[in-house]
Amino acid sequence: MCGIVGYLGTGQAYPILIKGLKRLEYRGYDSAGVALVNQGSVDIHKCKGKVSDLEDHLNGVIPEGTLGIGHTRWATHGPPNDINAHPHASGNGDLAMIHNGIIENYATIKETLENRGHVFVSDTDTEVLIHLIEDIQSKTSVDLFEAVRLALAEVVGAYAIVVIDKKNPDRMIAAKKSSPLVIGVGSDGDYYIGSDATPIVEYTKNVVYMEDEEVALIDRNTGLKIVTIQNKEKVPYIQELEIQLETLEKGGYDYFMHKEIYEQPRSIIDCFRGRMNVQQGTIRMSGIDDHAEKWINARRVIIVACGTSWHAGLVAEYLFEDIARLPVEVEYASEFRYRNPIIYEDDIVVAISQSGETADTLAAIEMAKEHGAHIFGVCNVVGSTISRTTHSGAYTHAGPEIGVASTKAFTAQVTVLTLMALSVAQKRGTISDARLHRLIAELNSIPDKVEEVLKTNDQVEYISDIYKNAGNALYLGRGSSFPVALEGALKLKEISYIHAEGYPAAEMKHGPIALIDEEMPVFVIATQGQSYEKVVSNIQEVKARKGKIIAIVTEGDKTVKAMADHSIEIPKTDESLVPLVSVIPFQLLSFHIAVMRGCNVDQPRNLAKSVTVE
Ligand code: M6R
Repeated sequence: MCGIVGYLGTGQAYPILIKGLKRLEYRGYDSAGVALVNQGSVDIHKCKGKVSDLEDHLNGVIPEGTLGIGHTRWATHGPPNDINAHPHASGNGDLAMIHNGIIENYATIKETLENRGHVFVSDTDTEVLIHLIEDIQSKTSVDLFEAVRLALAEVVGAYAIVVIDKKNPDRMIAAKKSSPLVIGVGSDGDYYIGSDATPIVEYTKNVVYMEDEEVALIDRNTGLKIVTIQNKEKVPYIQELEIQLETLEKGGYDYFMHKEIYEQPRSIIDCFRGRMNVQQGTIRMSGIDDHAEKWINARRVIIVACGTSWHAGLVAEYLFEDIARLPVEVEYASEFRYRNPIIYEDDIVVAISQSGETADTLAAIEMAKEHGAHIFGVCNVVGSTISRTTHSGAYTHAGPEIGVASTKAFTAQVTVLTLMALSVAQKRGTISDARLHRLIAELNSIPDKVEEVLKTNDQVEYISDIYKNAGNALYLGRGSSFPVALEGALKLKEISYIHAEGYPAAEMKHGPIALIDEEMPVFVIATQGQSYEKVVSNIQEVKARKGKIIAIVTEGDKTVKAMADHSIEIPKTDESLVPLVSVIPFQLLSFHIAVMRGCNVDQPRNLAKSVTVE
């Protein structure tokens, strides 16, 4: 996590840095800071809180300089306070640095440096690294570029860093390992740096995605030079960005999350556009078609992911097993990698990640690669680390998701995974033509059905008002509605801070039922399908204990509606596609409750959008 920006060019750096930090604030908002080189000094301004707090802290002062760096922090080492905020300075005050990642061996380096007389003011690993760079410079009298390279050769851990020097207003040095870093190359000799391309897209579409263990020198006079930590020169590969500026704005909504919930009919279409032919009943996905033999002969599919992406993976388990008859295991990436799992060369590992940067998912991929498995990535962010690390993959094309709580990313992931299951089923001959045609046509109708569900907004808002002060909530579902129950509970807890649990409806009687009383709202997905009658019984069990039932039902339902305290109707669809529509009321519900409770919807406490630490 943490967002980093940098600018070296002909204009004033500060407005570019502040705007960039606002774009990257989803990555962490514990503190913010900037450093600018101006007339032989490096001016650092930083404070606890958000980028707007930094602006308040500056109290109308606009720092000057055409070279600068900025940082928005998600705290790892040391509490969020002014001192631990980035940028950090070297001991002599010449250098300033921003960092995203974790230096794992910082304690050992710190001890050595303290023995050599270095004094540290913060609790951060970042300050240790900038002192190490300074120490190497003073011992060896190499230039800053070389000192950064030599320092990084001693470092264990993850980093994306940018370093500036008050004595050299014409240069900035950047480097990366495991944390993302993008360099924008402007037409007028201006250079931009960002943790992702969002702070850059406004100024240039030409970007270089840095690779691990690369160090870049950006010089006003000589341009961009990249070497590896082993000092091998690389030719920068400039790519053209595809994101549009409007997608990074709120577009009339008060919250990004609200906008993103409403974008889903469009983002689902964007996801299947060009991949699905409704008339012919075919699916085209190059990531699968180009490796058809691997999918046909696969022993099993292992899905690795975290959070919401893991929930999408659970939905996919039902799809792949039912439609493609392939055994599937769905793993938390963080658990999988430390379990010494058995991975075969004919396994396919599907890594799901909106950001494409999640450290645990990346580490799981690396481990699976070592075992020879084929790795398939389902990512949203184009050019992200995971999308570049995998053997093949499919983008979700949901567009930038800025709200920390995932909404459109989830439905786009489920859409891609559905397409994948259909494509693989077709190749493996496990689906009849009639069913394939039917499912493709049904998937094609999902955006309209999501549009219909969005019309329940006022009703959901009314229900939200009734339950906004609940202390706990239970979410229940069966089959592929169970992951939706998990996702509903995650949405509520992460943005409303109400404790919520998702359970398979039938599991309730094995423990959670003890929690039910007249205070407990129980959100149940009770749509038509093979478990409908069973879910009806589960609802009776809740009612018998005076719990409040809020049910998601298929339109026209009578049985559950008669029993529930509130019910929200959603359009009928094939049972395997229900998650794409049933999740929408839960997204709206958590959104409204969070707004009513005065919570920060887009930037919930303690969270960050992109989790690049393990
Ligand atoms: O970027 P990823 O999909 O890999 O992120 C994984 C989780 O951190 C993420 O899904 C998180 O749970 C959601 N933002 C919560 O809404």
